[in-house]
Amino acid sequence: MIAEALLYAATVPVTLKAHRRFIRYSVNLWSRAGRCSGQWAEHEERSKNAVRNAMVGLRQKRTAVVLGSGLLRDVPIKELAESFDTVVLVDLVHLASTRLWLRFKRYGNVRLIERDLSGYGELAAGKQPEPLAFLRSVPYLDFVVSANLLSQIGRGAKRRYDVEQADVMPADTVAQLIGAHRSALEAAPCKTCLITDVSYAVIDRTGKVHEEADLMHGVALSSVHENWSWPVAPLGEESADYQIVHKVVAAY
Ligand SMILES: C[S@@+](CC[C@H](N)C(=O)[O-])C[C@H]1O[C@@H](n2cnc3c(N)ncnc32)[C@H](O)[C@@H]1O
Repeated sequence: MIAEALLYAATVPVTLKAHRRFIRYSVNLWSRAGRCSGQWAEHEERSKNAVRNAMVGLRQKRTAVVLGSGLLRDVPIKELAESFDTVVLVDLVHLASTRLWLRFKRYGNVRLIERDLSGYGELAAGKQPEPLAFLRSVPYLDFVVSANLLSQIGRGAKRRYDVEQADVMPADTVAQLIGAHRSALEAAPCKTCLITDVSYAVIDRTGKVHEEADLMHGVALSSVHENWSWPVAPLGEESADYQIVHKVVAAY
C-alpha cells in the first residue's frame, strides 16, 4: 500500500490534470502485475514475440508508435528503441516509475504522449470517432502497435457510458469505439500489430467455466496470427475458488 501511495503521489505532478483520475488504474495494474508476475510472464513474452514477429520484414524503421504502452511489460521496448529512429509511447498515463526507468535506460529516442485513445469524446459530440487520426501527423510512420489496449478502451467506455451519459450516447457506444480502433489500425499507412484480450472466463478449481464474456462486444478481428491464454486473476487474486482467464489474440 505504501509503494502504491508513493507511486501515485510521484505520478500526479507529471500527469495532465485531465488524466489524473486514471492514475489509480495504472497504479492498480502495476500492483497486480507485480503480484502476478509469474503467472503473467508467458502472456507478456508472447505479446513481445508477436510484436517482434510483426516487425520482421519491415523495410524501413523510422518511427514506431505504441498505443497503450502502459508499464512496458508486454512491449519489447529494447528492440523497438534499438531498431527505430524514434519510438512514440501513447497512453492515458505514464507512471513515474516507467518514466524513471526509461531515463535510467537512456532511451533518448523514446517520446511519451498522454492521450485518450478511445474516441469517446468525438462520439459524445455526435461525430464519427477517429481515435487514431493523430497518426496521420506522425512523420515517417513505419509501425504501429496496439499493446493490450483495446479491451481496456471498451471497459473504460462502458464505465463512462454507465455512469455519465447513457441517455445521450448511442446504445452501441462500446462496439462503435472498438470498431473504430480496429478500422483505424486497418487503414494505417504502415504495418500494424494489434494485441488484445478478446474474451474472459471465470473458471473454478475443477476447470468448470461459470461465466464467459466477449470483450470485443461483437466486433470481429481479422488477420489473427496467434492466440493464447492470460490468467489475469489467478486463483487467490480475486477469489480462492475461481480464476479469471482472458483469451488474447495478436493480429498483424
Ligand atoms: C492492460 S494495460 C496494457 C499494458 C501495457 N501494454 C504494458 O506493457 O504494460 C492497458 C493500458 O491501456 C491504457 N488505456 C486504457 N484506456 C485508454 C485510453 N482510452 N486511451 C489511452 N490509453 C488507455 C491504460 O492506461 C493501460 O496502460
